[in-house]
Amino acid sequence: MSIRTATLNGVFTLEIARPEKKNALTVAMYQAMAEALQAAGEDRSVRAVLITGQPGIFTSGNDIEDFVARPPGADGDTMDSPVFRFMRALLECDKPVVAAVTGAAIGIGTTMLLHCDFVYVSDEARLAMPFVGLGLVPEYASSLLVPQLMGHVRAAEKLMLGDPFTPQEALDCGLVNAVLPAGEVVNHARRVAERFNQLPPGAVREAKALMGAPQREQVLKVIRAEGELFASRLRSPEAMEAFQAFFQKRKPDFSKF
Ligand code: COA
Repeated sequence: MSIRTATLNGVFTLEIARPEKKNALTVAMYQAMAEALQAAGEDRSVRAVLITGQPGIFTSGNDIEDFVARPPGADGDTMDSPVFRFMRALLECDKPVVAAVTGAAIGIGTTMLLHCDFVYVSDEARLAMPFVGLGLVPEYASSLLVPQLMGHVRAAEKLMLGDPFTPQEALDCGLVNAVLPAGEVVNHARRVAERFNQLPPGAVREAKALMGAPQREQVLKVIRAEGELFASRLRSPEAMEAFQAFFQKRKPDFSKF
């Protein structure tokens, strides 16, 4: 299993641990992450959740090979697939969620940060949402939330061109709380999570719910609309060319489309 979990001093840690594949997320890992978040939500001893990766890599996003072999929606409703179960579990987590971005955060590695409450990033990290270059579309409400954060034209660079961006840029637009030296990011994030041991959990829960409430329905609607398109585009000739190019370690050729 490439997901490790542990509860210590009121903090439930969900650690992505598949460094040999740059922490790429498989269907099984999404399922495990969804279940872990639900369990953390139900555990009264848990006051906050910490999501982290490995030194130098947070996650490279969807495991491309696994996604091609087992696309969301292949076994039924797209929204019931493990990746969407994970998305909903994070969205519905009523406890504070702190992300320690230990390195590169690609695809859902960046979009999941839009749904965390606190985000601390290593100064060596790189963020990117390269969906379009893979023949796909933005996911996890990023088409709604990224333009809200940074404005349309800067969001277009990230979502339409897939340009990577620096931790400093993420800080400047309000996507992250702080940029820290690589060796300090996890400990700092943990210390923030542990502060919830001193706060009344009911009030924390209500505050988080109030902050999410105004946009909740719209976010869910956008996640569903993006998800349907994303699932159908996974089978598109454009995506097939992009995935083959990735496996063959070459540049994709979209000139024939
Ligand atoms: N899916 C499947 N396998 C992946 C992967 C992914 N998202 N990301 C990395 N891997 C694999 C590579 O294929 C390679 O496997 P191999 O050793 O069997 O050849 C291994 O992980 C190491 O990756 P590599 O690209 O050699 O590492 P790097 O340090 O040069 O680059 C990244 C790291 C994260 C920048 C790069 O791997 C990358 O861009 N990955 C794709 C990210 C992506 O497009 N995600 C969006 C999916 S929607």
